[in-house]
Amino acid sequence: MKHQSILVIDFGGQYNQLIARRVRECNVYAEVVSYTDGMKRIKELNPAGIIFTGGPNSVYDPESPHCEKEMLELGIPVLGICYGAQMMAHLLGGVVETAPVSEYGSTVVSVASDAVLLKDISAETVCWMSHTDYISSVPEGFKITALTPVCPVAAMENTEKKFYAVQFHPEVMHTEEGIKVIRNFVYNVCGCTGDWKMDSFVETSIREIREKVGSGKALCALSGGVDSSVAAVLMSKAIGKQLTCVFVDHGLLRKNEGDEVEAVFGSDGPYDLNFVRVNAQQRFYDKLAGVTEPEQKRKIIGEEFIRVFEEEAKKIGAVDFLVQGTIYPDVIESGLGKSAVIKSHHNVGGLPDHVDFKEIIEPLRMLFKDEVRKAGLELGIPENLVYRQPFPGPGLGIRIIGEVTEEKIRIVQDADYIYREEIAKAGLDRGLGQYFAALTNMRSVGVMGDFRTYDYAVALRAVNTSDFMTADAAQIPWEVLGKVTNRIVNEVKGVNRVLYDCTSKPPGTIEFE
Ligand code: XMP
Repeated sequence: MKHQSILVIDFGGQYNQLIARRVRECNVYAEVVSYTDGMKRIKELNPAGIIFTGGPNSVYDPESPHCEKEMLELGIPVLGICYGAQMMAHLLGGVVETAPVSEYGSTVVSVASDAVLLKDISAETVCWMSHTDYISSVPEGFKITALTPVCPVAAMENTEKKFYAVQFHPEVMHTEEGIKVIRNFVYNVCGCTGDWKMDSFVETSIREIREKVGSGKALCALSGGVDSSVAAVLMSKAIGKQLTCVFVDHGLLRKNEGDEVEAVFGSDGPYDLNFVRVNAQQRFYDKLAGVTEPEQKRKIIGEEFIRVFEEEAKKIGAVDFLVQGTIYPDVIESGLGKSAVIKSHHNVGGLPDHVDFKEIIEPLRMLFKDEVRKAGLELGIPENLVYRQPFPGPGLGIRIIGEVTEEKIRIVQDADYIYREEIAKAGLDRGLGQYFAALTNMRSVGVMGDFRTYDYAVALRAVNTSDFMTADAAQIPWEVLGKVTNRIVNEVKGVNRVLYDCTSKPPGTIEFE
């Protein structure tokens, strides 16, 4: 790794990915590692600074996770956040105990004017707190630099040793000046210069891919989504025609999407790669006939995808590398997280068993989504593709409640197209996390002209979210919803009612199945 870096040591807190993202927003490379691998990674990476994350434990519990003491003896600056702050206090001789009053949520914190970590932060600032323990006495050599009426140590620092700690969470948006705290740490304390930029990422990656692949061949499953598109273009810039991209059209894509993907990546498009479109629509429809259970639909689509892909791969013959559009949150979640599987999320249904390849290549595995988009722009990929909203691997299969039929696919495609068109016309598209039409399995009575109808109800969904783990229903202006509804019932045959989903996640999920 040629960049300066910050190593985020994970103690199980829920905002840990966010910490790395905030550091990277400051143009400094950051990586998350479990506390069990902390020292090993420090030796490999030689980071400019270390951040201890929050976590659910109490530091005085003998079973609780701790960092090796050695980590505090390396002379590398350390920032402890929440549990990380308490652990630092505990290991260095301070006192941590159950707080008489727990703090949770937005809290006004008073800040000392000469605090190094809190430089240029307002004397009274709103921070996000979430703790039941607190530091009641700081270790020797530390100075208290922030407090609240019920939390005597909201921040502390030992500038000589370069140890800094905050009880609040600077990484979350609710901490109004949180990014300044991160910035102060990485620039003023750790001396980083901001050398993590997407142009150099692209340049370095192209060089590294060329070196790695040599004269070998690579195969990529291209879905047309942001991640696989950026991965494919990066690969094609590096190795050109040594790359083959297979695009499986499973017939569950949005309206015109298959053709749009082909227009960009096919032989008439700007990229020099071997593009293969497989029109496998009917195979998927046949397999899905009569199936209503959501997880079974997902499984069928995922497995069929693999089969189609394998068959295509067989035609191409042995390849050296299989390209995957894995991004950093996937890496963190599969490597560090222990969260329960709510849905079997898969883009291409896992890895194919019967493709003859030697090695996997994941050119985006260290990038967050916003960085993938920046890299995409850097590579000259059209904006509409780079800012495409997320689309699930099983596609419309999980936006049609109950059995998937060709008629239902047509209805949901047309309704969704109208919805997207009107949202874009109203200038709302970039501000929303995700928005789409789904087809309920409900038919109800309506009247059109002088006729009674008995047709489907389309559900519209739009959510605001920063991480897709939680989401709020977006408040789409009534006029826009009215216009969309009008157009859908008039233009889409088989629909006589449009509903808007006001449910947040949780308890709803973003998709309907
Ligand atoms: P949920 O519905 O779980 O969705 O709230 C969260 C995000 O994940 C996407 N999603 C999927 N993506 N395969 C995927 O590749 C899936 O099976 C799948 N299910 C949900 C969803 O679109 C949203 O962005």
